[in-house]
Amino acid sequence: MIAPVAEAPAALERALLAFRTELQAEPTVVARAPGRVNLIGEHVDYNDGFVLPAAIDRDIVTVAAPRADASIRVLAVDTGEVDAFTPLERFPRAAGWISYVRGVARLLSEMGVRVPGAALAISGDVPIGAGLSSSAALEVSVASALLALAGRSLPQLQLVELAHRAESEFAGVQCGIMDQLISVCGAVDRAVFLDCRSLEFVHLPVPAQLRLVATDSGVRRDLRNSAYNDRVKECQGAAQLLGVRSLRDIEPGDFAAREGDLPDLVRRRARHVVTEIERTRQAAAALERQDLAQFGRLMRESHESLRRDYEVSIPELDALVEVACEVDGVVGARLSGAGFGGCTISLVNESAVAEFLEHVPRAYRARTGRPATVHVCRAAAGASATDNWT
Ligand code: GLA
Repeated sequence: MIAPVAEAPAALERALLAFRTELQAEPTVVARAPGRVNLIGEHVDYNDGFVLPAAIDRDIVTVAAPRADASIRVLAVDTGEVDAFTPLERFPRAAGWISYVRGVARLLSEMGVRVPGAALAISGDVPIGAGLSSSAALEVSVASALLALAGRSLPQLQLVELAHRAESEFAGVQCGIMDQLISVCGAVDRAVFLDCRSLEFVHLPVPAQLRLVATDSGVRRDLRNSAYNDRVKECQGAAQLLGVRSLRDIEPGDFAAREGDLPDLVRRRARHVVTEIERTRQAAAALERQDLAQFGRLMRESHESLRRDYEVSIPELDALVEVACEVDGVVGARLSGAGFGGCTISLVNESAVAEFLEHVPRAYRARTGRPATVHVCRAAAGASATDNWT
């Protein structure tokens, strides 16, 4: 199945239409924030490691206008759900988009931003729960819209931090910083090589002939119910056993010398993290010198390590990686994001995209009985907002 991009009304059109018809008002603010793929550097952001994500040309869009009273009324256009609250209102930690929206409004208020009463309509073309970071895009999009309504802006890293807190404090996922940072700091045709300890990053060009192809396995997982938070704890435990602040602080050579002393599970989890951080450094260097063969090899090794040592892959993701690599012109493929379901990322030469679209869903269905949805993306700019939309 090919994602209906051109045929579907753009997310912005849907949001504007719903705003006018359902909320009977004209928006003054339009904000957008992108989803992401991660080229390499998986499950290392919460270990202070290096990651290499790219924002994609799929957004969560928020259109908004101030209201006369203090309430915030939200319409999730694509699901028809609604919510109403005031920014400082307490609410239970819960699943779903509502926690993200309420969490963002509350954190902004707590940091002294006077969040006005507002009507918001939210729509998007980042598939939900597919590992393309729809939740970070939602947090950043809503935060950008509320800031624009309040006539304020924040330095990029403060916006990242706020969106990240909304995720961990209100939705209960102990995630790292990667998804929120790339949604804010992405750039057109660039990947971001990010040091998750210092939050310093550089933009690295993605060769113009490459497409970032996200293939959705159709298997859905919920990060809070998945083993994600368990992995975070396992890594903290491993760092403690090894006597370091985080697994970032162990060089691969030192680790190899000491891994024999570790219990099996701890050894495998830590081995993934230590080797993945090193692979990501090497991949960034390979991308800089446009050594795509090496980049592809590192992607494959990363997937293998996630499958064997970190145990966050599933047979469907393994199958997608294998069938993607059967296509001539695919540089490399691996699972992208948390795993347990969701998407793979394949780096594909533009000339091979047609064959990819033909081969991968067919071969995947033959192996698993499931449809695959292919999103052919390009690296895109981070979030933006306009406050004089008319
Ligand atoms: C999820 C989290 C990220 C990161 C990835 C795995 O997307 O939100 O912080 O940990 O999983 O690399």
